[in-house]
Amino acid sequence: MLKMKFTGITCLLAFIVINAATLAVTAADESQRQIGYGRGGRMQGGSVSERSKEPIQPIPMSFDWNSAKIELGKKLFFEPRLSKSGWITCNSCHNLSTGGADNLPTSIGHKWMLGPINSPTVLNAKFNLAQFWDGRAKDLKEQAKGPIANPMEMASNHELAVNVLQSIPAYMQWFKEVYGEGNITIDNVADAIAAFEETLTTPNSRFDAWLNGYDDKISEPEKQGYDLFKDKGCIICHNGFGIGGNSFQKFGVAKPYEKDTQTLGRYNVTKDEKDKYVFKVPLLRNIELTAPYFHDASTWSLREAVNTMSEYQLGVILPDAEKDKIVAFLKTLTGDQPSIIFPTLPPSNENTPKPNRN
Ligand code: HEC
Ligand code: HEC
Repeated sequence: MLKMKFTGITCLLAFIVINAATLAVTAADESQRQIGYGRGGRMQGGSVSERSKEPIQPIPMSFDWNSAKIELGKKLFFEPRLSKSGWITCNSCHNLSTGGADNLPTSIGHKWMLGPINSPTVLNAKFNLAQFWDGRAKDLKEQAKGPIANPMEMASNHELAVNVLQSIPAYMQWFKEVYGEGNITIDNVADAIAAFEETLTTPNSRFDAWLNGYDDKISEPEKQGYDLFKDKGCIICHNGFGIGGNSFQKFGVAKPYEKDTQTLGRYNVTKDEKDKYVFKVPLLRNIELTAPYFHDASTWSLREAVNTMSEYQLGVILPDAEKDKIVAFLKTLTGDQPSIIFPTLPPSNENTPKPNRN
């Protein structure tokens, strides 16, 4: 069953990868030349084409991210007035200074309320087949409307959020430029935020450089960690550009996971009995930055997370030395973090609805 899913995914990816790999290889080549050939590593004949068949693909380099829509989306991502309190932003819980997550077991929302589940990173979220742990939002745009109106998160509502923006002439102007006159709608707010999130990828990890043929970018133990990751079966669920994010899988395949039996995962969406405890497989990109781990934040230790996965998903107990190597491999997945110029936001005025802490 798992194997079959895996083959399906691989076939699909193979198609995308041929294009993406060519692009990424050229890009890596380019930056290599800029910093002086040989400084960053050695390129060996044949290794590129061989590695383009690996079940993990390098994150494509992206260029040309400067559009008015993305700039607007960035402002909205950092806009506290989209929350009822005038204090909480998307960045509060998806802090771009700390790997796109909040490093808390569960997020702190309106009136200091604690959410029910760990906040996943927004970095590389575009590679997810759907959004949220249970995949209830089909894409980034659909997702972005959720937190604004969630009483435990930003606690505003769509009408209020739109009213706030409409009261500010600069927003009227920016929305007009991107969407045309009179088009501050919650759909367009979400559309702009999603466009900004599309840019939040993290290319250039050491592992990606290795995939692109630069042999020296990862050490021998890290390489062995990757081999273990494949040989032991982690790769069945964690593969592709995001090293996850492309399938829903049960948490507790080999052994029931009993630390949290309340969160039902995908079942909440499908009401199908076999979807109980099924979750979107998380991305492992930048995993070193986003502790604590799992939807229930049951551990702060990456080593412990690897241990849990091998025990509950694969039904094996790995020797410490092997766990350490897998952890070493996982740490090579940290890429270039988006470099953000913090936006300046226009002031409120007498027509702007006032913040409300209650
Ligand atoms: C109070 C904290 C909080 C705020 C504010 C918040 N989020 Fe989230 N976000 C979360 C949590 C918690 C989840 C996971 C919820 C779930 O899966 O049920 C999440 C999930 C997501 C996801 C899905 C990621 C994935 O891997 O499935 C994206 C994308 C996202 N948020 C973007 C945003 C954007 C954009 C905003 C601002 C409009 C925002 N968030 C505001 C806490 C927050
Ligand atoms: C059968 C599919 C499957 C296999 C095999 C698997 N995983 Fe996972 N992995 C998941 C799912 C599903 C989750 C999310 C569990 C949750 O929190 O609900 C996850 C979560 C994780 C996390 C935590 C991510 C985060 O952001 O919280 C890490 C780290 C991880 N896996 C590493 C591994 C390693 C290492 C292996 C091999 C030893 C492995 N996985 C094998 C499906 C799998």
